[in-house]
Amino acid sequence: MTVAYRPPLPSELTECALVWYTAVDDYMARLGRPLPSPYLDPLLTLLAHLLKTDPQRFLVAVRPARGASLDGGGQVVGFAIAAQREHVWFLSQLYVLPSDQGKGIGRALLTQVLPSLDLPADEEAAGGAPAESAAPIDAVPSESAPPTQRPGVLATCTDSAQPISNGLYARLGVVPRLPVFNLVGTPNPSALARLPAGVEATPFGSSDPTSAIDSVDRAVIGYAHATDHAYLRATGRTGFIYRAGNGELLGYGYSSEAGRFGPVALLDETLTAPVVGHLMSVIRPRGATTAWVPGTNDRAMVALLRAGLRIEGFPALICWTRPFGAFDRYLPASLALL
Ligand SMILES: CC(C)(COP(=O)(O)OP(=O)(O)OC[C@H]1O[C@@H](n2cnc3c(N)ncnc32)[C@H](O)[C@@H]1OP(=O)(O)O)[C@@H](O)C(=O)NCCC(=O)NCCS
Repeated sequence: MTVAYRPPLPSELTECALVWYTAVDDYMARLGRPLPSPYLDPLLTLLAHLLKTDPQRFLVAVRPARGASLDGGGQVVGFAIAAQREHVWFLSQLYVLPSDQGKGIGRALLTQVLPSLDLPADEEAAGGAPAESAAPIDAVPSESAPPTQRPGVLATCTDSAQPISNGLYARLGVVPRLPVFNLVGTPNPSALARLPAGVEATPFGSSDPTSAIDSVDRAVIGYAHATDHAYLRATGRTGFIYRAGNGELLGYGYSSEAGRFGPVALLDETLTAPVVGHLMSVIRPRGATTAWVPGTNDRAMVALLRAGLRIEGFPALICWTRPFGAFDRYLPASLALL
């Protein structure tokens, strides 16, 4: 059966979201954890954001309807989206309908959204990870130039329970390296740490926080991504900049009334528990709070567990070709956009 690969029509985003739901529900059901009925609005908002920021890295696999042309119409059977943020290429989404899996469609989508790696012949032949010297340098310009040029990184997040995706990416050197846990619950206010005297939390909006956020991001996660911060704020997250009494920048953090916590990025890891405590005290979600906690961020893990949150489901895995972020000082917003 011929499958065409092309950018999505805006009207196909709902079909992509349904491919996501069907693909994840299929393997989760086999693990005894089927998904609840679909609520696709947050995913649709994310897909629209990524279509805007990375239109050349968003592809659908389409089986054309009988007699229809390949460039419009047909059934979406899979899709892939990567986000290029300065030197870091991040695979945000790759899903194929269960009935079409195992036929090479996932690999074809992935190959077409990869940056050109320009691997040396011996590495390419061996299918090895890109070498430091061979990786692209800031292949795609970002909204503000990074201070130095760095070798390119490929990264993604996977489910630990999913051997196919972990195998598919690891062959490219995008190897699962770090567990990230989903912590969920309503924090006990009396178990939350307070900000030390002298540390000030200023809500975003009192001034333009972009340059402070960019510099924290470059120091902590390795790249600035102002467009994603704008998206986070537009989708209901409230952020704060943390500074010492003398004005020194210490980091930033977000939470939301919907309970989606993060990202949190700190220049000083000893502030992790107080900043987590501040965010959870100042914004009281209507329901449970959900946070993604990398295993190396032991301070956040301890603070959140002691506040009463519980580990939910299997851990996810952050995968990369080479290290790029200080995950001991970072809590990502989600697994689809670090
Ligand atoms: C993951 C997914 C996108 C892959 O798409 P697909 O079309 O089924 O994949 P392909 O047929 O192109 O390739 C699968 C590859 O994984 C490899 N693979 C499968 N099981 C594997 C295992 N246990 N260990 C290592 N590699 C494995 C296959 O050998 C194949 O590689 P090959 O092309 O070199 O033979 C698809 O299966 C899917 O949507 N799964 C459910 C949702 C999901 O988990 N998405 C990823 C989120 S992290």
